[in-house]
Amino acid sequence: MLQILRSTLVALLLTGTLAQAVLPPPPTLKSAFAKHFLIGAALNQAQFSGKDPRGASIVIAQFNTISPENILKWESVHPELNRYDWEGPDQYVAFGVKNKMFIIGHTLVWHNQTPKWVFEDAKGAPLGREALLARLRDHIHAVVGRYKGKINGWDVVNEALNEDGTMRETQWLKIIGEDYLAQAFQFAHEADPKAELYYNDYSLENEAKRNGAIALIKRLQAKKVPIRAVGLQGHNKMAWPSVEQQDLTITEFAKLGIKVNITELDVDVLPPASDYRGADITVNYELQVKLNPYAQGLPDAMQRDLARRYAELFRVYVKHAAVIDRITFWCVTDGDSWLNDWPIRGRTSYPLLFDRLGQPKRAFTVVLSTATTKF
Ligand code: GLA
Repeated sequence: MLQILRSTLVALLLTGTLAQAVLPPPPTLKSAFAKHFLIGAALNQAQFSGKDPRGASIVIAQFNTISPENILKWESVHPELNRYDWEGPDQYVAFGVKNKMFIIGHTLVWHNQTPKWVFEDAKGAPLGREALLARLRDHIHAVVGRYKGKINGWDVVNEALNEDGTMRETQWLKIIGEDYLAQAFQFAHEADPKAELYYNDYSLENEAKRNGAIALIKRLQAKKVPIRAVGLQGHNKMAWPSVEQQDLTITEFAKLGIKVNITELDVDVLPPASDYRGADITVNYELQVKLNPYAQGLPDAMQRDLARRYAELFRVYVKHAAVIDRITFWCVTDGDSWLNDWPIRGRTSYPLLFDRLGQPKRAFTVVLSTATTKF
């Protein structure tokens, strides 16, 4: 009997399964990945203002970095020319400081969720380059300056590129010209020289857009712009990007000597509404029952597929941990996710690791286990 036990033990040890059997994976995301990267989530106002204690407790237990889902976007923090609204941002930052988290600011320059007045003079005529640059500088100095030493990293520019890698024709580009990016980074650097500064975008796993981003970052580097990292938003589908695409994308950006962060991670399990595969938040389609197949719950087989999908992505992140500072999920529980309303309003989506009751899903457990992947 003893002999059988001993040989079983030896066999288990040799295959490594004993280690897994007696040493359960660490119970939280932040502890599991402590040696690899920070793990975060984007917070809504209810979570950091005290209205959603359940959400806040998940954040405090699981994450060591936070991003603001909306509260620091231009339209929220600076709704009118002479009015900033600091209440929400102050609460967000206080929540992060209190819980000793790495606090992200999102986002200083974007074409969405930016009021029309930003680009116009008092009569509604388009601003010229110098006037818009002055306005941008004021905004960045006000917002970055207020949280100097507290917000640790800023998405300076969000989504400056088209799918083919060319520059997106935003008001920023049209009025200021391409150096709006370098200028914005410079203003942010002046306002808080210690803050990390990032370029953030979606679909950079696709070759054309990635090449555009690489060229853009090289141009910024040639101007000595202090860019710490590129943010891959990571609004993923079940079959996109492929593991190979994800792997190659991280490798290619890391060659620029910058870090590569995953900044808005989620996995969309719902059927696509069209052929469109990007993350442009202005896209919207009609609700149809066939496009909302899991309104009553996600079938077990899909839970397993989602867990598998998360595992394959996290194995790539763990492989590249040396160049990744941070992996941030876009929202905390499935119920919080923008994917319930985009690109179709009113669907029931399941893109995250915590379900609508705040309970960890199968994908959570599987993600934890990837922390011990050996390469
Ligand atoms: C983009 C933006 C985010 C957020 C998401 C969707 O990725 O960067 O701020 O709006 O879309 O919620």
